[in-house]
Amino acid sequence: MTTPIYTVASGKGGVGKTSLVINLCHILAAEGKKVLLLDADFGLANADVQLALAPEVDLAQVISGKIGLGKAVTTVTKNFDLIAGRSGNNELAFMAGLEQQEILTQLRALSVNYDVVFLDAAAGLDATTLALCTAGDKTLLITTPDPSSITDAYAVVKLLKQRQGVENCALVINQASKNEGARVAEKVQAACKNFLDVDVPLLAVLPADKQYAMAVKLQSVAAVAFPACDVVGDLKVLAGKLV
Ligand SMILES: Nc1ncnc2c1ncn2[C@@H]1O[C@H](COP(=O)(O)OP(=O)(O)OP(=O)(O)O)[C@@H](O)[C@H]1O
Ligand SMILES: [Mg+2]
Repeated sequence: MTTPIYTVASGKGGVGKTSLVINLCHILAAEGKKVLLLDADFGLANADVQLALAPEVDLAQVISGKIGLGKAVTTVTKNFDLIAGRSGNNELAFMAGLEQQEILTQLRALSVNYDVVFLDAAAGLDATTLALCTAGDKTLLITTPDPSSITDAYAVVKLLKQRQGVENCALVINQASKNEGARVAEKVQAACKNFLDVDVPLLAVLPADKQYAMAVKLQSVAAVAFPACDVVGDLKVLAGKLV
């Protein structure tokens, strides 16, 4: 069986992609799954910051041709590997399409060493983000109940369908109560079905949680620092649906 590659995307920024994927990686690694996270927010990479790491190798060295992707891996913890980006790096921020394709080709090859691979995409809808969503097997589309976040999530589904011919999104509603999350999901699903004829299954509704936010501020990870908090329980259920 080929290793699933999930691209985490949102349209709108700051909805919780990076912290969510880092928590998922920790949860899956603790369950014995081999996990690789690639920081694909090429211009403003910060998965390493949220993990309080200072990687010695990163994607900038891959792009400059110094090392292959396999040599750019930093061990976060047992079973959890990171390929870090480098924030503000000119070559990464303005990488050509061919270079992106080369990274994705190398990533597919590397993925055989893992049970699951995650790409943490940048906010926005540029060609790179769409290419990452297309290259992955599934796009985890994160939205909050904020109307502009919902609109942007719909825009991702629309552009993926219209530009790339791809229908691979599944929804995660973040920072919402169960009722509110269900309502948001219905709204997105109805628009996607009616206007695009695309089904977007709902994978999870995650509550807003003070301890989760505190963990991000402390450059810690809720799944490690506050394993009993509500979001972590829901993330464990989500993790079980992915691998
Ligand atoms: N469920 C939650 N409960 C409380 N706070 C949350 C939750 N999810 C995300 N946050 C907060 O939202 C902020 C943004 O989170 P994060 O950096 O993960 O978002 P992002 O989508 O990766 O942002 P960007 O688009 O800039 O990459 C953080 O301060 C984080 O603590
Ligand atoms: Mg992020």
